[in-house]
Amino acid sequence: MKVLFVSSEVFPLVKTGGLADVSGSLPAALSALGHDVRILMPAYPEAVAAAEGPQELSLRQSGGQLTLLSTRLPGTAVPLWLLDAPASFGRFGNPYLAPNGAPWPDNAERFALLARVAVDLTQDRLGLGWKPDIVHCNDWQTGLIPPLLSDEPNRPAVVFTVHNLAYQGLFPYDTFLRLALPPRLWRMEALEFYGQMSFIKGGLAFSDRINTVSPTYAAEIQTPEFGCGLEGLLKSRRAHLSGILNGIDDIAWNPAADPHIAATYDADTLERKQLNRTALRQRCGLPDNPEFAVLGMVGRLVEQKGIDLLIDILDDLLQLPIQLVVLGSGEKVFERALKHAAQTQPERIAVTIGYDEALAHLVEAGADMFLMPSRFEPCGLNQLYSQRYGTVPIVRKVGGLADTVADASPEHLAAGLASGVVFEQAKPAFLLEAIYRALALYREPDAWRSLCRHGMGKDFSWRRSASLYAELYEQALADKSGSRPAAEPRYTDELAAV
Ligand code: ADP
Ligand code: GLC
Repeated sequence: MKVLFVSSEVFPLVKTGGLADVSGSLPAALSALGHDVRILMPAYPEAVAAAEGPQELSLRQSGGQLTLLSTRLPGTAVPLWLLDAPASFGRFGNPYLAPNGAPWPDNAERFALLARVAVDLTQDRLGLGWKPDIVHCNDWQTGLIPPLLSDEPNRPAVVFTVHNLAYQGLFPYDTFLRLALPPRLWRMEALEFYGQMSFIKGGLAFSDRINTVSPTYAAEIQTPEFGCGLEGLLKSRRAHLSGILNGIDDIAWNPAADPHIAATYDADTLERKQLNRTALRQRCGLPDNPEFAVLGMVGRLVEQKGIDLLIDILDDLLQLPIQLVVLGSGEKVFERALKHAAQTQPERIAVTIGYDEALAHLVEAGADMFLMPSRFEPCGLNQLYSQRYGTVPIVRKVGGLADTVADASPEHLAAGLASGVVFEQAKPAFLLEAIYRALALYREPDAWRSLCRHGMGKDFSWRRSASLYAELYEQALADKSGSRPAAEPRYTDELAAV
């Protein structure tokens, strides 16, 4: 199958989170299965700088000239096009946010442009001599592609993957008018969402198939608690909605060959992990005290990740024999609270505010336990990396965390199935209790070792999930040829309120 994979971030060209990891590894896994996958993403300056020998393609588009930079996904043979539109994408830093932390004021225009170019590519209007059978869209930034494609008589089948429903691409009606979108899209069954334009709704209403990145999240988003107001629409499309777990790039995230860590190791040389713990402590300025277990956390410092739950229990944690290492950036209030804690307890708490790929690897290798107390988590990748690195994840039972970490309950331990510590409610006391439980196990070296080793033995590679995506593409093609009307007017947003 020929697949156009469209994403607003792709590792290693540009990354703010897991979407980049998936966009940098799923296309390669699909290509290994024999599919002809090509990626389209914006040409941010960092992405151009990281691209290998990009070739400039100057193309004629209906509205004028257009430049694509043609390259390959680094380290693979997967073709990748960077949409070179300097006025929209020629900005350094976060792809979505201005330096003041607010969204770029022209985000709707920027990602509408990406969508229009994607549509032209699918119709081969740019003269590249290639037409995909499938367009695979990811998150709100690509949400206009399915509705715009619905006007095309010879459209490809469309798959839309929800990596995070909480980010929807909401803009005022004025922006809808300014984008000169077809007026028929201003309907509750299309882009209109409580008086605003919703990019993500375009993806949810007009795609042949919708999927999310774990089976549990696929079920959760059909409920008011996780549906962000879109549960009515998602429920109405449940026959076309599924969940496929993310895989990991098992070359980049391999403790036996990771260039970012101090000592490589595998399940048979697990004792070498301690060398990484020492290196992590040194890197973070913590004393190398063997009495203490090291708890790590890496991620966006936002409510989704439950960082406030951790901040709430810092005083209790200091009563325990642990050190805490946090790497992340996000909301200023959380950054400030963490920095303050690290300043007052420099021997116990180390906080690095910022983005640091190498340190993220060292935390995975050097920590004994990894914290993910998320309020919601579509899939989550760090708990997968943690298991691969023999670092016991402590996670909330939600979304992809529930699907990928087996709690160290007595039954799971006895059956050799446990791979982490799982707690139920997004409340500080539940997180604290989970940490107590993890520490109790940590004091039993045999039980701990088997917990680590079981996690390390699990297969989180893309192989299985890539085949599931290939099946999803087949289903999307079948749905398309069955000619389901583009947007099914079978629901109301008000259902959401019920
Ligand atoms: P999300 O996409 O919601 O942020 P995921 O767990 O799916 O969460 O993926 C996060 C990815 O981003 C992981 O690869 C993680 O290591 C990485 N990451 C997040 N914050 C940082 C940071 N401050 N420095 C380095 N890597 C980070
Ligand atoms: C999102 C989610 C995360 C998921 C990632 C990649 O950012 O928050 O849970 O792993 O996308 O799919």
